[in-house]
Amino acid sequence: MVSLSVQLAPKYPGGLLLINPVMTASGTSGYGTEDSHMFDIQKLGAMVCKGTTLEPRNGNPQPRLAETTGGLLNAIGLENVGVDTLIKEKAPIWASWQLPVIVNIAGGTVDDYARLAGQLDGVAGISGLEVNISCPNVKAGGADFGAYPDSAAEVTAAVRKATSSPILVKLTPNTSDIAKVAVAVAEAGADAISLINTLKGMAIDITRRRPLLGNITGGLSGPAIKPVALYMIYEVAGAVDIPVIGCGGITTASDALECIMAGASAIQVGTAGFSNPGAPLDVLEGIEQFMKKEGIKDINKLIGVARN
Ligand SMILES: Cc1cc2nc3c(=O)[nH]c(=O)nc-3n(C[C@H](O)[C@H](O)[C@H](O)COP(=O)(O)O)c2cc1C
Repeated sequence: MVSLSVQLAPKYPGGLLLINPVMTASGTSGYGTEDSHMFDIQKLGAMVCKGTTLEPRNGNPQPRLAETTGGLLNAIGLENVGVDTLIKEKAPIWASWQLPVIVNIAGGTVDDYARLAGQLDGVAGISGLEVNISCPNVKAGGADFGAYPDSAAEVTAAVRKATSSPILVKLTPNTSDIAKVAVAVAEAGADAISLINTLKGMAIDITRRRPLLGNITGGLSGPAIKPVALYMIYEVAGAVDIPVIGCGGITTASDALECIMAGASAIQVGTAGFSNPGAPLDVLEGIEQFMKKEGIKDINKLIGVARN
């Protein structure tokens, strides 16, 4: 037997203990209900739902997805049901699950984030918030907040004030010094930091001689961004004393283990799930097998080992 349990919010009263370190990444498994027929999502450590806004959103014009070498460009534009419907229709389903569900929130102003956090506070079925200050595909807010330490801290402090839930803050790689942003959000009250969101990119349709995506630019995810994610996890884990959740191109158990060894306490699987819907479970099984083969009894012994 190996112990896979990890603590995501050691500073939060009561903590946020996961049975294992494998989570789904926001926007890549909807509300979790859609996946239930493909694999047992309850076997994971936690699920992060699609980015949620105060009002429902239809998202950006089509096309919104483009495959690239080793990656995927998306410009969904935060299509979601809105916070009221989430509370009315999704949270009651989650309340019957063992699996902790984290709600990813996004806004155009600091006040939007605070209002979202306030509305979600104390709702049964919601174990925490992931504050998305890193979406590259919306005109107002999103990654603009995450690009600078001051604005990132301002959003974090406003959410901290409005909620009694654990807060994960999700950072953008589209910034000049991610460690500085991480330190600012940690000081402003984040319980953990998720990174990375997508890298801003684009593609051109050479026949039409026009940008391929309806939104012109999009966010790059998938295996192509894993080395960038790994570097940023390593940087941030060395700069803050709260848990780091690694995300970006994780496709196999060895990708996940690299992130954990760089300093991530947990990991999120996103784009990999589009080509292999069972990817999060495959990653989990692979981590367990690696630990058994290497004689490691507790996953916590692997967190940050590459840093020593
Ligand atoms: C189609 C799609 C939709 C996404 N939607 C969100 C979102 O709503 N909120 C968010 O914080 N991140 C969102 N992301 C970013 C992912 O959660 C993740 O940070 C990123 O894709 C990198 O991980 P990956 O390479 O494993 O996909 C989205 C990614 C994709 C591909």
